[in-house]
Amino acid sequence: MRRLNRRQFLTLTTSSAATLLLARCAESQPQAQANFNAESSTLSRELSNVRSPRIVKFDLEAQPSSVTLGDRTANLFTYNGQVPGPQLEARPGDAVRIRFTNRLSEPTNLHYHGLHIPPTGTADNVYLNIGSGQTFDYEFTLPTDHPAGTFFYHPHFHGRVADQVFRGLGGIFVVRGDLDEIPEVKAAQEEFVFLKDFEIDPNGQVPNPNPMQIMQGREGSLVTVNGKENPIFSLQTGGLLRLRMINASTSRFYRLALENHPLHLIATDAGAIAAPVELQEILLSPGERAEVLVQGNQPAGEYRLLNLPYDRGMMGMMGQGSMRGMGSMRGMGRMSGNASQTTPQVLATIQYSGSTAPLPLPQQLLPVAELPQPATSRRIELSMGMGGMGMGRSGMGMGMAFLLDGKSYDHDRVDATVQLDTVEEWEIVNTGPMAMDHPFHLHINSFQVISRNGQPEPYVAWKDTVLVRANETVRIRVPFRNYAGKTVYHCHIFDHEDQGMMATIAMQA
Ligand code: C2O
Ligand code: CU
Ligand code: CU
Repeated sequence: MRRLNRRQFLTLTTSSAATLLLARCAESQPQAQANFNAESSTLSRELSNVRSPRIVKFDLEAQPSSVTLGDRTANLFTYNGQVPGPQLEARPGDAVRIRFTNRLSEPTNLHYHGLHIPPTGTADNVYLNIGSGQTFDYEFTLPTDHPAGTFFYHPHFHGRVADQVFRGLGGIFVVRGDLDEIPEVKAAQEEFVFLKDFEIDPNGQVPNPNPMQIMQGREGSLVTVNGKENPIFSLQTGGLLRLRMINASTSRFYRLALENHPLHLIATDAGAIAAPVELQEILLSPGERAEVLVQGNQPAGEYRLLNLPYDRGMMGMMGQGSMRGMGSMRGMGRMSGNASQTTPQVLATIQYSGSTAPLPLPQQLLPVAELPQPATSRRIELSMGMGGMGMGRSGMGMGMAFLLDGKSYDHDRVDATVQLDTVEEWEIVNTGPMAMDHPFHLHINSFQVISRNGQPEPYVAWKDTVLVRANETVRIRVPFRNYAGKTVYHCHIFDHEDQGMMATIAMQA
């Protein structure tokens, strides 16, 4: 049995010796760089980066494994026997090679959530079908201007995603760069908070969800941080703690608050914001990330990182809340859904230990460019409807259809065609009498949220997943950059995605 949550940095091989040499040369002799600029624009781009690009290699194996989860032994799906999977790290400009082997008895693949890389070939290609026993070499290069931030990887084989993620698959992908070099950020103690819930039966098996749970989006009663129940993070009096939080759960939302401590937001899904924003709580829907700084300025002691109750509009089946127009479904009330959470849950504990001269918060982080007026606008509707029994792809959706623009996902249909090097404004509308919250996610290109129900966003930030609450309209602006090809946008409650709440976007050069 393997121990959980050993944060393991995999083998990192530095290569491209020639480039390395040239870069060093350029650093000490500016003339050399000038010469190369004249000769090769590709090379000059690399040379302008003080740290020269490397080749980073990782080996990943999806496999069934027996792992310790809390006080239990659980039979899960893992990457390399670990939950969460190994932490992958790269820097802008790096060439990434991931040798991926599927040792599950079903097809799977990998998606690099939030990375700005090609959606095709050996890069972030969600259409790949890596069969049981097969090995595939993922290869891609991070652009030299890729933002530093907290990203993650997880399977994306349509129809199996919710189940594979709920059985444990997922891991962190860190891009290290300018954000990490800001002195105040660098001085902070760094911790990752990988949020994932599990359901384990007395035999150590992950039970199959019932139809109601699939409709709502399955949740597990065992909530973990980095594969542990209530881990301890230490904080020095006077010190700073940098929490890099990732909601890697299939469906569960986290409304995060730390006792007696405000959270100073420094980064959202796709990297830094311009200056820290002080918040009392942060809501992370599935797929979203946030980085915060916590100041050790309270009396020494223990403080709990809490998950506060949040109602994501699970159609009134849980006792509280109204039936929200579900009268016709009352006959199904006997089927139990997810237990509703009515009290705060403890996720982790921050424990004061030691002290240091007080570390300041950063005043500024990194500039966030505001986007130009969009050339095109588009309306995207998230909705749910009654279909015939067995209409859901999984056949377990109780006839509930999960739709984007009134349609269920079809691999052979292109739903949106966009032009590269343009900015589009998307109005995302969550509508219908049975509306529940849906986190909207777009692959490959990050966006900025402009407004929610007409209210302008308080600060500019890069996002790849945005929560669209029931009966809410969210406007986003997306710059389509660099990569042509097809990819997807979808609800990041994976049960909804698997049941058809996904669509195809074609990006044209
Ligand atoms: Cu993290 Cu298509 O998703
Ligand atoms: Cu994604
Ligand atoms: Cu959804």
